[in-house]
Amino acid sequence: MYKIFDTVDEVSRYTAQRLLAKIKAAPTAVLGLATGSTMEPVYAQMLKDIQQAPVDLSKLTTFNLDEYIGLSAQHPQSYNYYMYQHLFNQLNIPARNVHLPDGLASDVETACQAYSNAIEAMGGLDLQLLGIGSNGHIGFNEPQTCFNSRTHIVELSEQTRIDNGRFFDDQNEVPTHAITMGIQDILNAKEIILVATGSNKTEIMAQLFASAIDEALPASALKQHKNLTIVLDREAAALLPEQALKSAV
Ligand code: GLP
Repeated sequence: MYKIFDTVDEVSRYTAQRLLAKIKAAPTAVLGLATGSTMEPVYAQMLKDIQQAPVDLSKLTTFNLDEYIGLSAQHPQSYNYYMYQHLFNQLNIPARNVHLPDGLASDVETACQAYSNAIEAMGGLDLQLLGIGSNGHIGFNEPQTCFNSRTHIVELSEQTRIDNGRFFDDQNEVPTHAITMGIQDILNAKEIILVATGSNKTEIMAQLFASAIDEALPASALKQHKNLTIVLDREAAALLPEQALKSAV
């Protein structure tokens, strides 16, 4: 299902409301969370909404999608740092319920397995929030990642390193590897919301719409999911065919 809004503000309000509705309906919910500039206004809106109407977060559990290898939680470009800055520092989710892949794990393979196992042990993700990379990656699952992958190490593509270079002082500082939940972990979520905004997502959203389910375009795996919402602003939706716009509600 597509949801298309005129502005990023409306996209963020809708997405924040969906997340909060899930938590209110199920205070023990397990959420899969994402990072990236797309999520900043979403999390800001969530904080605003919670300030106005407090929600019980004491039983909530979260798992983040991904993390750079080699960056500590204190590194301003680590996803751990991002999550605390934009969300967790302002919320009272118990620390033991918050999970992020460890970019400094000494045994990364074991840490990856443990991460997918921990998600499963919680009964899986109730709702996974996703952004999308300009090459169609979800989490850090780059093109050609197996759709049955679990949490694993990835070598970042040149495109992704260039895209994400904007957050670093120097392109050479962008890590070459990351840990990401696998596509299977994502597909196992009961509900998925993919959010894309702005003109740098126009092309990929048109490609995704037209694409078959194909490992060359990781986000196309989502087309087999039974409860997927794609939330776009007008810019990201600009090249979608009439057919998609008509079915959008
Ligand atoms: C990164 C993250 C993805 C995110 C993507 C898009 O590569 N690993 O999870 O979806 O960037 O980010 P942005 O929202 O900044 O465009």
